[in-house]
Amino acid sequence: MSDTLVVQRSRRLRGDVRVPGDKSISHRAVIIGSIAEGPTAITGFLTGEDCLNTARAVQAMGVRVEGLGGSDLVVHGVGLRGLRAPTAALDLGNSGTGMRLLMGVLAGHPFTTKLAGDESLSRRPMDRIARPLGQMGIEVTGQGERCTPPVTVHGGTPQAIAYESPVASAQVKSAVLLAGLYADGITSVTEPSLSRDHTERMLEAFGAKVAIDGWTVSVTGSPGLRGCEVAVPGDFSSAAFPLVAATLVPGSAVTVRGVILNPTRMGLIGTLERMGADIKIKNLSAPAGELIGDITARFSRLTGTEIFGLEIPYLIDEVPILAVAAAFAEGETVIRDAAELRVKESDRLAVMAQGLAAMGASVRELPDGLVITGGNPLHGAEIDACHDHRIAMSFAVAGLAADGMTTIHGAATIATSFPGFPEMIAELGGAIVEQ
Ligand code: S3P
Repeated sequence: MSDTLVVQRSRRLRGDVRVPGDKSISHRAVIIGSIAEGPTAITGFLTGEDCLNTARAVQAMGVRVEGLGGSDLVVHGVGLRGLRAPTAALDLGNSGTGMRLLMGVLAGHPFTTKLAGDESLSRRPMDRIARPLGQMGIEVTGQGERCTPPVTVHGGTPQAIAYESPVASAQVKSAVLLAGLYADGITSVTEPSLSRDHTERMLEAFGAKVAIDGWTVSVTGSPGLRGCEVAVPGDFSSAAFPLVAATLVPGSAVTVRGVILNPTRMGLIGTLERMGADIKIKNLSAPAGELIGDITARFSRLTGTEIFGLEIPYLIDEVPILAVAAAFAEGETVIRDAAELRVKESDRLAVMAQGLAAMGASVRELPDGLVITGGNPLHGAEIDACHDHRIAMSFAVAGLAADGMTTIHGAATIATSFPGFPEMIAELGGAIVEQ
């Protein structure tokens, strides 16, 4: 897609849509499928750039992936220790998840692999992975103090550890658990609060021995992973954009069908409800170990709230769109304990504060959050999304409910997680064009 989006205040948004497959589950299905025995059939795979890069990376290590480019794939697993050394550096593009999870798997392979990424990924800290892998006896080298990419994993035989993670990060937890598959005995990760749990669910579905005790997850080494069928549900983090848009644009009612409702992902729903949003969830089912359902949001008048502590990991990727909702809500919204946002695809706290201020919102940046006083009408502005997909989509939603015209630069990375986003918003009645 093009790099500039132009959005105008829109009349009501209405319709019934499906969003692309969940990014977290798509990455994991390809990675775990590639180290399982036999085929893994994936349906609903996210064809966004991030997941395609992960699939290309496993291909570069000798895994046959049928159907790449479409949403139905078959990954022909090569077994736990079957990956081959790639002949060139693996390019993970924009994806922290792809890079960090693969680092865990590569820790257990007796070769050296270089992993690189784009400009944004090259600024993101990999010391959070290098540290636990180092404790497991696996050396990871990278650039500078924070071990930024390109990184090199000197794989071998990891030793089992009990890791106390300083951050609630599913990427850290997953990298250590994946490395633990190659260790003798039990590897565990304890988090300061619970991050998304897709890795532990999927490892269990593939036959690994996984134990969960509060915020500690353990895996037993050398499992016989067996290929599985994985039906990827719609991504809640993508559904968040049309749902919040419906909440903010008068007269709207939008339903997103078949969305993942994993409790570690849907913190935004509870927060929006607390702010006064009219949200209904229907048609619940759990076809493949993950709860899915249809979510309907209708225009509502919102009031400010406080979001902090344990709630943050459950809506970590939704903070930017929540900040937009807060800018349209009456009164003050305070977001705290969200310093992790500073090391995402961009410094999301700084970029949101800047863009919302440009649209006329009253916003103050905290070291670990934002204070937004909503209720003043927002106006269109020129926004730099800093090549961050979720920032670009958040400001597109803001533009649908603001006066005048909003131009968003640096929007092409929307394709990493939500191919078809502008088309979907237009189909719902939003005034959005690519330029
Ligand atoms: C993800 C975990 C989260 C999230 C990212 C996807 C995953 O990051 O922000 O978009 O699939 O494991 P952290 O685990 O670093 O918080």
